Amino acid sequence: MSGDFVVSLAESDPSEKFRRLIEVGLALTSESDLSTLLGRILLEARRFTCADAGTLYLVTKDGRLQFSVVQNDSLDHSEVLVGNGSSPVTMEISPTSIAGCVTVTGSTLNIPDVYEIPGTCGFHFDRSFDLKSGYRSRSMLVVPMKNPKGKIVGVIQLINARCPGSGKDTAFSSDQEELVLCLASQAAVALDNARLTGDLRRSYAEAIHHLAKAAEYRDKDTGRHIERVGRYAAAIAGAMGLPQDYISDLLLAATLHDIGKLSIPDCILQKPGKLTSDEYREMKCHASLGGEILAGSENPVLRLASEIALSHHEHWDGSGYPHGLKGDEIPVSGQICAVADVFDALCSARCYKSAFGMQESCEILKQESGRHFSPAVVDVFFRIKDRISEIREEFA
Ligand SMILES: [Fe+2]
Ligand SMILES: [Fe+2]
Repeated sequence: MSGDFVVSLAESDPSEKFRRLIEVGLALTSESDLSTLLGRILLEARRFTCADAGTLYLVTKDGRLQFSVVQNDSLDHSEVLVGNGSSPVTMEISPTSIAGCVTVTGSTLNIPDVYEIPGTCGFHFDRSFDLKSGYRSRSMLVVPMKNPKGKIVGVIQLINARCPGSGKDTAFSSDQEELVLCLASQAAVALDNARLTGDLRRSYAEAIHHLAKAAEYRDKDTGRHIERVGRYAAAIAGAMGLPQDYISDLLLAATLHDIGKLSIPDCILQKPGKLTSDEYREMKCHASLGGEILAGSENPVLRLASEIALSHHEHWDGSGYPHGLKGDEIPVSGQICAVADVFDALCSARCYKSAFGMQESCEILKQESGRHFSPAVVDVFFRIKDRISEIREEFA
């Protein structure tokens, strides 16, 4: 990636920059995906200053600095997420490092040349990256990301300001310092929001998981059925090209498909062998009961879960229950979960049947395409059969 995208704003007039700052602030606060947000914050800060490179650090819960995004237009990797979720790269917050000093003092550092920091400063520049990569870091602008409570949540470090016209190295100006400081405060608010959204989502995902487990617990021989159904459904939805938000919701919502079984008596739910017609009629009520239990929520996952609970036993040809919906009258979520649920039930041993192998189960799905199942969903299922097998092994 070339550095041309960072040029325009450094040249533009102050009112244009101010307008752009407001625009960027609004855009940042509406971004809820943390990694996209972090990359965007650093990119926008570099656009405002025409900086060749930069690093964004986050302050972790245990009080360290985590390298979260690194961007460098002069080196091959223009953006690298340092480490990953399970093993991020962190460093101690020490006043002897540049980013550490900014975190400790809460003040901005604007350094014309990091190789000429006077020894009396108390902090120094670590040249190890330059030595490894052959890069020459020169000017540096390092700004704290302070939230409205005054807490420092991260640090933006911009490296090597470029002259807009010539592209030559220059120092960061005091105007740029001010702009980045404003951007950093907006970024801190956006970061707090994204983290809260993430926490909220994790909490309700956990609550949903426990609720689904409660229903499954009564159905003693289903093993990790609900987890597999969620995974299969999400994989199918992904291959169908459905939106990412829908796929994430479906992954959770599909696990609640049989929540209505909470109200089915054990003597029916755990009966070995065939149900009588009365028992079967009662068993079938779990679909509408599940739909009712989950109805009326404003939460998108619970709304989708209600739709799935109600429709996962509808058949493509109209012979299913509870409403005998036909073809595309059945919501897509129900069409997908019908395939995911039946496939998993076929592959698993139950109190009334032994497990079929993968091939036999797939054969049944194929035969039922256009009868029980949506032909389009069955086609997609076969297209991603390898992925389905992987999920089956992973959640065995
Ligand atoms: Fe069911
Ligand atoms: Fe099921």
